[in-house]
Amino acid sequence: MKVKIGIVGFGEFSFSYMDLWTTHPLVEKVVGAEFLPERRQKAHEQFGIKMYESYEEMMEKEPDINCVAIFSQRHQHGPMVIDAMKRGKHVFSAVPMGITEDEVMEILRLAKETRQIYMMAETCYYFPCAVWCREKFKEGAFGKFVYGESQYYHDIMDMFGSFSAQGDKWKRVAGIPPMFYSTHSMSMLFSAIDDYPVDVTCFGYEDTQGDDIYGKGKNDWDNPFSNETAILHMKKGGIARINEFRRCGNVRPTSYITGLYGDTGTYEGSGNQHLFSRNDAYNDHEFTSVDVSDEINTFNFLADKDTMKDGDGRIDYKYMSGFSRVHNTARLPKSFLNLEKTALYPTSVVGHNGSHPFLVDDFVRAVITGKLPPVNPWMAAHYTITGIYAHKSAMMGAKTLKLPEIGEPPADWETIDFDDIKY
Ligand SMILES: NC(=O)c1ccc[n+]([C@@H]2O[C@H](COP(=O)([O-])OP(=O)(O)OC[C@H]3O[C@@H](n4cnc5c(N)ncnc54)[C@H](O)[C@@H]3O)[C@@H](O)[C@H]2O)c1
Repeated sequence: MKVKIGIVGFGEFSFSYMDLWTTHPLVEKVVGAEFLPERRQKAHEQFGIKMYESYEEMMEKEPDINCVAIFSQRHQHGPMVIDAMKRGKHVFSAVPMGITEDEVMEILRLAKETRQIYMMAETCYYFPCAVWCREKFKEGAFGKFVYGESQYYHDIMDMFGSFSAQGDKWKRVAGIPPMFYSTHSMSMLFSAIDDYPVDVTCFGYEDTQGDDIYGKGKNDWDNPFSNETAILHMKKGGIARINEFRRCGNVRPTSYITGLYGDTGTYEGSGNQHLFSRNDAYNDHEFTSVDVSDEINTFNFLADKDTMKDGDGRIDYKYMSGFSRVHNTARLPKSFLNLEKTALYPTSVVGHNGSHPFLVDDFVRAVITGKLPPVNPWMAAHYTITGIYAHKSAMMGAKTLKLPEIGEPPADWETIDFDDIKY
């Protein structure tokens, strides 16, 4: 069996995956669907794939596809995922999983019942700081988790490209509650500490810019907040702080962990500097702090770090493009490794910190073996639902809310093992 995939939505993000779908050795067929004629034409010309005018047309005319990849707008994923799963397809979807609890729970139900693969393409799961913290945490370097901070800072005007397909209506969707798009922040921290929250409280910053993106009646959610800050009480007792800011004067990186504090070890990150501190005071009164930046920063960044020189003057993109030492590139198809030399832009094929190749390969491996991808649907549900409840809390004046029971994957549904398939 091989993957035959139908891709929906050809904005910038989707294009950045195309070389991966078309060169993966276990992908046999790629077709696409896009409403906008110029995007449809570009996809056809650039990748030679058959293109349809809509998701519906593609599903009708390509009954033999066994997978669907969803790259529609952030608020549109849930219903399309559910529809595709009900048609018996495996689904790869851009984040978030959905924007309502019902959508997320229905996807979980379908996954459990059908054992079809649902994979949320969480780029930040493979961000080097998250991979590094996950590995060190597993080794015990942090001890017990006590507190952590992560965030996704992306000014809404800098994200305009992501909403342009909506034409004049772009502000109505750009004003989506920041916490509905919080899976980047949540995934980095929750996956590093292998825990999830049980209670959430969240404060909203009421926007004052006056450009008709945020406020009652201004967007499809009557959302007044451009920035939201959530405090989470984790199941094993630690506390986390998550920021989702859409009015914010930062540049890059956008998603990162600023601090992961264990009772014996601490990671702190700031831009391109990453420190790891150990507190062995209880044993031998030792306290050490080590600069681990070279283990985490991308090779692209390391190559130019002393001169800070960049062809197009955008040193910020070097934080976000290409692989890093923490990435297990040996597990990837050989065809992917040559792609690293492509543009530095964060949405290049190795954009978002080299995460795209891992995500495509996780999905293909999961479909072929029938096993769960590393970001399984239950993890995706924790990342997504926590944000949905955080926004609910902010709208209630920061009331503390209990999160719903999400449960675990069935015990007999294993996660992929990278030894199962060798390229
Ligand atoms: N790091 C990340 O994980 C990351 C980064 C960027 C974007 N994203 C997500 O990826 C998705 C795509 O982002 P984008 O910036 O490319 O968005 P975009 O709006 O530019 O592209 C979405 C495209 O989907 C098309 N579309 C929607 N419904 C369709 C249907 N039923 N049939 C055919 N075409 C349809 C639209 O016409 C549009 O061209 C969004 O959900 C975004 O949030 C994730």
